[in-house]
Amino acid sequence: MRHLIDISDLSVLEIDELIDTANDIIQNPESYREKCKYKKIATLFFEPSTRTRLSFEAAMLELGGSVLGFSEAASSSAAKGESISDTVRVVSNYADIIAMRHFKEGAPMAASLKSCVPIINAGDGGHNHPTQTLTDLLTIKREMSRTDNLTIGLCGDLKFGRTVHSLINAMIRYDNIKFVFISPPELKLPDYIKNDVLDKKQIPYEEFTSVEDAISKLDILYMTRVQKERFFNEADYERLKDSCILNCEKLKLAKDNMIILHPLPRVNEITTDVDDDPRACYFKQAMYGKYIRMALILKLLEVE
Ligand code: CP
Repeated sequence: MRHLIDISDLSVLEIDELIDTANDIIQNPESYREKCKYKKIATLFFEPSTRTRLSFEAAMLELGGSVLGFSEAASSSAAKGESISDTVRVVSNYADIIAMRHFKEGAPMAASLKSCVPIINAGDGGHNHPTQTLTDLLTIKREMSRTDNLTIGLCGDLKFGRTVHSLINAMIRYDNIKFVFISPPELKLPDYIKNDVLDKKQIPYEEFTSVEDAISKLDILYMTRVQKERFFNEADYERLKDSCILNCEKLKLAKDNMIILHPLPRVNEITTDVDDDPRACYFKQAMYGKYIRMALILKLLEVE
């Protein structure tokens, strides 16, 4: 039995196979309509979500299966003090696969130790979000026709942004990747990622504090929201929330074929007039999330 807790649980070959399957699902949705008949996914979401939870549920429904679960800790027995281990031990009797989001880093990993069905990490605190990374990789492959030879700008909350941490861990496995980190000094990428991941593998990176200084170098600009829920006080969030904003004026400095990604939800970091620019791919990215999650469910359930 396989779980997906961290993107490195999948080899590059397996990621490429998932991308191929997702592309086939996009081309031939009818062939997949009954692949998961009588299968159930439980979505256990202890933290808010729109895209991840609903795309997992849509994915299973489009594969012919069913869904159960909860969308907030308050409506589960966690509110009465039940542990993650006990919850998962019970729910794995009711479902064939579980997607779990939790505010505590490592919660899906702890769950996987007690589960008798595959666990998918749907985001754990400021740590990892591997299915967002699969979504990002499918989007990059479809929009850029490659996942190597890229200069990727990661902008916004690089300290708490779990999508950024997972994406870096995935992209370092492809050839000739360069990173450009854009954030206020307080929200810089943590040193442990720079030292243990990038320096160790001699992956080149540069750091900037403004979008306009960096944007002309980029093939991909990956914008992120400042993660209000991870701040210790409101004043710091208010001070930093609008540090890096992409607007049409700054976009004039970018390459014509650069793509703009964002895991969403967006708050203020991309002005809405950017949505009409052909380089804005973030709503397509959210759509691709459903297809890659369909491919992942098939893989973890070992459906041919
Ligand atoms: N990208 C993402 O994880 O969105 P949600 O929080 O809406 O699931």
